[in-house]
Amino acid sequence: MERFNRKSHWEDIYENKPLESVSWYQPNPETSLNFINQSDLLKTAQIIDIGGGDSFFADHLLDLGFENITVLDISSTAIGRAKERLGNRASKITWIVSDILDFLPKQQYDFWHDRATFHFLTKEEEINHYIKKVSKALASGGTLVIGTFSEQGPTKCSGIDIKQYSTSSLTDLMQHDFERINCLEVDHQTPLGTNQNFVFCSFRKK
Ligand SMILES: C[S@@+](CC[C@H](N)C(=O)[O-])C[C@H]1O[C@@H](n2cnc3c(N)ncnc32)[C@H](O)[C@@H]1O
Repeated sequence: MERFNRKSHWEDIYENKPLESVSWYQPNPETSLNFINQSDLLKTAQIIDIGGGDSFFADHLLDLGFENITVLDISSTAIGRAKERLGNRASKITWIVSDILDFLPKQQYDFWHDRATFHFLTKEEEINHYIKKVSKALASGGTLVIGTFSEQGPTKCSGIDIKQYSTSSLTDLMQHDFERINCLEVDHQTPLGTNQNFVFCSFRKK
């Protein structure tokens, strides 16, 4: 059997599906922005969006005046689409094309955001690898925000398996290096009108 190629899967999606048709399409990432507002960040804070794709989170961060935004995604097509949409403003953002598992951060971050990327890691060693990475890359006192499908949410996204979480399973997973700040469940309405239940948690790096 052919081994699943994560990168070509995502390149294929972004080459073939328009922005407004993907299930995760969200012009106003309200929940993520609420976490930003609650974090009392300086405008110079180092913010990274993991698996940001061509989402609007970075656009909103620019609108809010943040100066040090990084967007990482496995798909160069997604990053290319985001840059095209942002036009001149794209040069204010640091873009990184990488699988998160291969990413070697060269600096520390104050705010690490991940909506609907972490949950694609289904193997224990990949999950642990991700947690070690974020723990090392976040400054002490920095904030981690993770949004995944909840136990009431879908079991797959874009045709591939995901791992569901509850507020307590996500908290347990992070508890060694992070203290929980706030968790909530929220429904995302897809462009097809269906609801996907997410769990979002924020954590402070110990
Ligand atoms: C469901 S989409 C969510 C996009 C965006 N975070 C949002 O909320 O609109 C998942 C994104 O994660 C990216 N991705 C999936 N696996 C990844 C990995 N291992 N490393 C980096 N990016 C990944 C995909 O290319 C895609 O852009």
